[in-house]
Order: sequence, then C-alpha cells, then structure tokens
Amino acid sequence: MRLVRLIANLGYGSRKQVAAMFREGRITDPDGEVLYADDKVEHADVRIDDAPLDPPAGLALMLHKPLGHTCSTRDPGRIVYDLLPPRFRLRSPVLSTVGRLDRDTSGLLLMTDDGGLLHRIISPRAQLSKVYEADLAEPLRGDEAAIFASGTLMLESEKTPLAPAKLEALSPRRARLVLTEGRYHQVRRMFAAVGNHVEALHRSRIGGLSLDGLAEGAWRVLDAADLERLFGEQA
Ligand code: URA
Repeated sequence: MRLVRLIANLGYGSRKQVAAMFREGRITDPDGEVLYADDKVEHADVRIDDAPLDPPAGLALMLHKPLGHTCSTRDPGRIVYDLLPPRFRLRSPVLSTVGRLDRDTSGLLLMTDDGGLLHRIISPRAQLSKVYEADLAEPLRGDEAAIFASGTLMLESEKTPLAPAKLEALSPRRARLVLTEGRYHQVRRMFAAVGNHVEALHRSRIGGLSLDGLAEGAWRVLDAADLERLFGEQA
C-alpha cells in the first residue's frame, strides 16, 4: 500500500494532509532520514514527528471500560472512544467494539478492526465464556443457580430460551455469572426474571482473557499470546 494511504488510513489526516506532512519532512525513517510519499518502506520503519506509527490494520485491543461510557461512536455523552487516541476513531478499517457493555457496566471490553476476528469472538459456535460479577439489590434466594443452569429460562420478548449459565454466590448479594451468549442486557434481565435487580455490574473475563490489573479507563493492544489465551482456556 502507498505510504500516504497507509498513514491516512491510520487516522493521521486526509490523504491531502498526509501528503503535506511528507512535504514538511515530518515523516522519516528510524534514523531521522526524511521519507518521500513513493518510498517503499515497512510500517515498522516509519516515524511521524519521531514517533512510531500506530499499530497497522488488524488491531485488537482490550479496554477497562469505566461506568458512564457508552459503546457508541456518536452518543452525545461519554463514549469508549474518548478513552483512546482521537486518531483511532478515524481509522479505516473501522475500529469497533466486540459486542457491547451497557453504560452502567464496567470491565473488559474488546475492540478490533478485524471483522474476521470479531465474528470469531462473538460467534455462538465459539462459545466463549463471559464472566460477570453482579451486586444485587436483594439477597440471593438460593434457586437462581438451578434456574440459570436449566437451559429453559425464557426472557421477555425472546423466542428461544437462554443457554445454560453458571452462577456462583460470592456473598448473599453478590454473584459471579458465566455466560456463553450475549443477549441484550442479558445479566440484568436474568436477575430481573428471578425477582432481583442488578445494582452494579462488571465483566472480568472473556474466554481466557482477564483484565489482569489493567486500570479503569486504560487500554492495551492485544498480541498473539493474548489472542491464544482468549480462545484457549475457558472460565
Ligand atoms: N448484561 C447486561 O445486562 N449488561 C451488560 O452490559 C452486559 C451483560
């Protein structure tokens, strides 16, 4: 791919703006030698204002989503893209969230510009487990684990029952729930179906990947080992 297009696709500016950056000598190799728009150079050997380029297409990252941010590109309030470099919103291919977390849910959110990877993660066939911790308004009754594990629980306005889910009581009003699907507001609706209310919700793990100390609001690029872990060990 031509350098101008490659750099413009990473969100650094329009092709016209990137061409101007070349003319201004802001684009160099690692030794500071000025590059020209038709030079043939690897992505890793390009610097803009002495800084390495953002990761190339095929980007996957994990974000510790705080409460109050929506998984949207254009919500009037705070959005998860506000937590990333502004350029990331201008990338082509587009960087999207892998599924969604509600505004009032915190925790592990994956984002990628790789459509194949996205589908592999959300595909029902992958059966990737998602682990949530929920704080509840009412104490657990004791029958929720059996109801959630039954594979027969129907949520309002759904046509098929939920797949079996695993519930572990962490305290009378706190539970860990392991799901293998991702229906709209699923955790909140499951607890509503058993007469409870989720007061706080956090996702701690997807497949074999957990937040591992990543601070709230922080993000990091996933490498091959992370992806192996994601599809490897399950909760
Ligand atoms: N279930 C919910 O109810 N909300 C989320 O954000 C994720 C799962």
